[in-house]
Amino acid sequence: MDKIVVKGGTPLKGRVAISGAKNAVLPIIAACLLAEGECRLEDTPHLADVDTMCGLVTELGMRVFPGQGSLTVINEGIKATEPPYEFVRRMRASFLVLGPLLARTGKVRIALPGGCAIGARPIDLHLKGLAALGAEIEVKNGWVEARARRLKGAQVYLDFPSVGATENIMMAAALAEGTTIIENAAGEPEIVDLANFINAMGGRVTGAGTRVIKVEGVKELRGTTHAVIPDRIEAGTFMVAVAATGGEAFLENVITTHLKAVIAKLTEAGAILTEENGGLWVRGELPLKAVDIKTMPYPGFPTDMQPQFMALLTVARGTSVITETVFENRFMHVHELKRMGADITIEGHCAVVKGTKKITGAQVKATDLRAGAALVIAGLVAEGQTEISCIHHIHRGYENLVEKFQALGADIRYQ
Ligand code: UD1
Repeated sequence: MDKIVVKGGTPLKGRVAISGAKNAVLPIIAACLLAEGECRLEDTPHLADVDTMCGLVTELGMRVFPGQGSLTVINEGIKATEPPYEFVRRMRASFLVLGPLLARTGKVRIALPGGCAIGARPIDLHLKGLAALGAEIEVKNGWVEARARRLKGAQVYLDFPSVGATENIMMAAALAEGTTIIENAAGEPEIVDLANFINAMGGRVTGAGTRVIKVEGVKELRGTTHAVIPDRIEAGTFMVAVAATGGEAFLENVITTHLKAVIAKLTEAGAILTEENGGLWVRGELPLKAVDIKTMPYPGFPTDMQPQFMALLTVARGTSVITETVFENRFMHVHELKRMGADITIEGHCAVVKGTKKITGAQVKATDLRAGAALVIAGLVAEGQTEISCIHHIHRGYENLVEKFQALGADIRYQ
């Protein structure tokens, strides 16, 4: 089962339920390190990245019990302060344990996360923030060593509203002495979910969702129960797939305010979207129209939706310009889409997509998670059969993607 095979041409129809957000649950599992006791997380997706994060916190001394769409994390004390390299190498989000571990134990040794396909992805902002809270940080031989007796609240300005840096600093500051202000903080919905979780544990975080977050440190936090928000990127992926195939479907469990940019761009392309009872109707009327897209930090158009939207635009009427401003190398899927007959040229940070009447099935490779989703969408609209390899990338972040598309009538299967 290391390939997905799609036969294109079927308009998607029916209903699909969106799972809990990968990018919300990962930092929340890391935040369970902050409080002794039991945390029950609900609406959690079953994904390879979630397994990796659970494996990592287990190495650090937590006990994790997976349920049906839930996770219980029992923290009876942190037993290790050196997250194994194997985990940090496998998943960049592993670095999110740094802030909570440092706040709880005062001493952490963690490998530098490697670069990845979509860009260099440094961690300088994470480290600058923690240093501002009083941590002594040394980077040598590919490892970060951080020490602090007790972190102290401080003013932190982020040069870029990094999601991970905001989360790491917020978690560390939750147990620091005094107040921390994070300026130019990331405002993604996943940041708000993490702040809500910390507050439910007894923390004092305000301003999450805006560019300035205030964290008043408390002496200790306690276990709690928390339901994870729906995955806006999974929802966006299904919205684009339904529209691109000229289908009509209802997406359950969607917070539409988290998806304003994607909804605006799909509407501009000619799709019809209607909110109803905690979900969203999506209808595509073909051909869709070309639209220009520029990825930006939230509430701008999400970089995690750029590859999927590009797949849709390959068969739209007219020429679209896609500008990627968040990651420096996030056009790996272009080469694969071109193998399917798409007309795309890259000029620096821009991809110019000339819509064609049809693209055709081919053998292609998922180079990363969202690139993989883009190729599935391309396969759904292409004429003939598409075979997608390296689908472990897709399993990192989509729960039952193939099964959900099958339920919408797509001709898609594992091979
Ligand atoms: C998170 C998401 C990822 C999404 C990304 C941007 C998770 C688990 N992952 O990743 O799906 O694509 O946000 O929305 O939530 N940067 C620095 N220095 C740093 C940190 C980041 O220069 O210390 C740069 C990165 O190289 C990148 C940009 O900032 O160009 C955005 O990165 P960031 O927001 O930190 O993304 P992640 O938290 O890694």
